[in-house]
Amino acid sequence: MSETAELKLPGQTIELPIVVGTENEKAVDISNLRAKTGFITLDNGYMNTGACTSAITFIDGEKGILRYRGIPIEVLAERSSFLETAYLLIEGKLPNQAELDFFTNRVRRHTMIHEDIKRFYDGFPRDAHPMAILASVVSSLSTFYQHEESRSEADHFSLNTVRLLAKLPTIAAYAYKKSIGQPLMYPQNSMSYCENFLHMMFSTPAEHYDVDPLMTEILNLLLILHADHEQNCSTSTVRMVSSSKASLFAAITAGICALWGPRHGGANEEVIDMLTQMRNEGGGVRKYIDQAKDKNSKFKLMGFGHRVYKNFDPRAKIIKAACDKLLSKMKIADPLLDLAKELEEAALKDSYFIERKLYPNVDFYSGIIYKAMGIPTVAFTVMFALGRLPGWIAHSKEYSNEPGNKINRPRQIYIGEPLAEYVSIEKRK
Ligand code: CMC
Repeated sequence: MSETAELKLPGQTIELPIVVGTENEKAVDISNLRAKTGFITLDNGYMNTGACTSAITFIDGEKGILRYRGIPIEVLAERSSFLETAYLLIEGKLPNQAELDFFTNRVRRHTMIHEDIKRFYDGFPRDAHPMAILASVVSSLSTFYQHEESRSEADHFSLNTVRLLAKLPTIAAYAYKKSIGQPLMYPQNSMSYCENFLHMMFSTPAEHYDVDPLMTEILNLLLILHADHEQNCSTSTVRMVSSSKASLFAAITAGICALWGPRHGGANEEVIDMLTQMRNEGGGVRKYIDQAKDKNSKFKLMGFGHRVYKNFDPRAKIIKAACDKLLSKMKIADPLLDLAKELEEAALKDSYFIERKLYPNVDFYSGIIYKAMGIPTVAFTVMFALGRLPGWIAHSKEYSNEPGNKINRPRQIYIGEPLAEYVSIEKRK
C-alpha cells in the first residue's frame, strides 16, 4: 500500500497521498485539499512547492548533483554537443547517429530569419538592451508562422522547436551587430551550431575570419551547462504560459523575459559589473563581503547563492576550470578573474556564507569567459537564453503532452479590504 500523510486541521484530520520520485524525493499530494477541507496551502516564493512531476532534469542541491534525463552534467559537458543535449532534453533520449544527423541538418536549414525581421532592428534605440530585442523578435516570429493549421500539433511543435533553436543565435547576433553599427552577417549553414554563432557575432564582410576552435569548444560547453535546470523561474514561466495553450513562441518569449532579472539569468551581467566596480574602487574584497552581510544594505554578492544548491553548483566547478583553460590558452591575464577567485576564497571561509550554504553559482565565472570571448556584458544573459532554450522547449512539450493537463492557476489568501463602499468622487478625501 502506498504511503499517506496525515494532516490535522481544526475539527478534522485527513489523509493525503505521498508521491515518491525515482530518486526517492517525497511530496504530499494536496490537489484535493481544498475540495475536501476548504483549506489551501500557502508558500510564498514557492520555497517548498512542487508544481509538477517531471522526467527531464534531476537536481540534488544538497549533494551538488545535476543530471539531464539521468545523465550527469559532468559527462555531458565532456562528451556531448549542444544539439545532441538539446535532442536529449526535448526527445527524452540520446539520438542515434541517423537521428542526430537528421536533427542537426534540420536545425541548420532554418538559421535564416525572414528578411522583413531585419527592419525591426532599425526601430530599436541603438543602446537597446539585447534581452528586450531577443524577447521582441522571438515574439514576432509567431506572426511569420501563423497560418499552419494544416499541420498536426506534434509536427507543428517539432517544426517550431527547430525554428527556435536555429534562429535564436541569428536573432542574438543581429542585435549585437546592430548595436555596434556593423553589417548583419548571414548564417553559414556549413558550420557547426557554435561556430556559426561566433561567425555571425565576430566576422565582417570586409575580411576573412577564422572561428577559434577553443572558443567553439568552450561555447558548446557553456550552452550544455545552461541547457536545463528544472523548475527555475523562467522554466516555470514557460510551463505557465504553455498551460494557457499560447504558442511556443509566446511561451519562450515569456521565458526570456523572466530570465532577464538579476536574481536569475541577469546575474551574470551583474557579476562583471560588481567585479569591475571592486577593481575600480579598490580596497579589497573584504569590504564587499561585509556589505553583502550587512542587513541594512541591499547589496548581495552576485553569482553567489542558489535556491536549490546548498553545496557547490556543479556547473560552477566546470565553468571555473573552463575559464582557467580559455584564459591561459588565450594568454589573457584578466584582473577580474583574480578578483573573482579572491572573493570566492574569502566568502567560502566566512561564517555568514558557510552558515547559509552560499556557494558560487553558474553565473559567477561564466561572465569572465564571455568577456574573454569578446561578448559585451549586456549580452551575457542572451548567452544564457541561447543555452536554456532546449530546456524551455522540453518543459513546454512535457507539459503539453501530459494527459489531462490543466491551466496553471495558483490560488491566494486575500488580505485586502473586506466589502467596501464605492464612495462618489466628490466625497472622496
Ligand atoms: N549575498 C549575500 N547574502 C545572500 C546571498 C548573496 N548572494 N544570497 C543569499 N543570501 C542570504 C540572504 O540574505 C538570506 O539571509 P538571511 O537568512 O539572513 O535572511 C539567506 O542567504 C537565504 O537567501 P534567500 O535570498 O532567502 O534565498 P533565495 O533562495 O530566496 O534566493 C538567490 C536565491 C539566487 C535569488 C539569492 O541567493 C541571490 O539573490 N543571489 C545573488 C543573485 C544570483 O547570483 N543569482 C543567480 C542564481 S543562479 C542562476 C539562475 O538561477 O539564473
